[in-house]
Amino acid sequence: MVTGAGSGIGAEIAEHFAESGASIVLTELPESLENAEIEAERLQRLYGVEVLCKPLDLRSVEDIERCVRSIEEQVESIDILINNAGVNLLSPALSLSEEQWDFVVDINLKGTFFLTREVAKTMVRHKRGSIIMIASHDGVVGSENHAPYSASKAGLIHLTRSLAAEWAKHGIRVNAVSPTFVITDANEQVMDDPQFRRTNLPRIPLRKFAVPEDIANSVLFLATDSASMITGHNLVVDGGWTVV
Ligand SMILES: NC(=O)c1ccc[n+]([C@@H]2O[C@H](COP(=O)([O-])OP(=O)(O)OC[C@H]3O[C@@H](n4cnc5c(N)ncnc54)[C@H](O)[C@@H]3O)[C@@H](O)[C@H]2O)c1
Repeated sequence: MVTGAGSGIGAEIAEHFAESGASIVLTELPESLENAEIEAERLQRLYGVEVLCKPLDLRSVEDIERCVRSIEEQVESIDILINNAGVNLLSPALSLSEEQWDFVVDINLKGTFFLTREVAKTMVRHKRGSIIMIASHDGVVGSENHAPYSASKAGLIHLTRSLAAEWAKHGIRVNAVSPTFVITDANEQVMDDPQFRRTNLPRIPLRKFAVPEDIANSVLFLATDSASMITGHNLVVDGGWTVV
């Protein structure tokens, strides 16, 4: 199950799982569900795997519970959950409103937790599961104008450790992947901006931004039995941003 799978990193993760033969559930905001449905048809055709599409808005715990129940009616088990959906909003902390704070933290941290809780209930019944949070380098180091985003992603990284400790006895592994800037269709223009490149590339020792495939490869590794001894880990995919 991949959240926010209609575009960007989520779509690439879904493609990697489909390519490796997994049946997948894609979730997307109701207003963007069409993107996920087009993607689902393409993956089904290309890889011959089963792909379900479900509307999901992480701002509503009721919606989360309804979505997981509806998936459970159609599939035997959810073995892997990729919490990819997330939002960002840039604002100086001094002028940040309560509404802006809630928007980011409610989706990135609160909604992600409640979805994880619902899916974990089914994993507990099957005595196995692998959960991956897509966090960020902003959850590891601080950066200007990112207060709610950084706080929510740091929260996700530590939530990963807590849940890993709590659910290991159920055969559930919980890990995080923390990317640096990733070039996607949505942000390609910003990443190409000379000023943006001048400011940010020198902070990355490998001197390049990530591509969605870098993230999908790491997620696939952590999700499968190749990483059967790894839980509670935050795999930082940042070209070295956080080590200097
Ligand atoms: N692109 C980057 O540079 C970068 C860097 C570090 C981390 N990340 C993280 O990677 C993840 C994917 O980012 P992306 O660049 O592909 O962005 P994106 O905007 O293309 O994808 C985010 C997805 O989340 C979905 N979403 C938004 N609000 C939602 C809600 N309320 N409920 C359910 N789904 C919702 C969107 O519809 C979209 O499909 C995010 O968690 C982001 O924070 C991205």
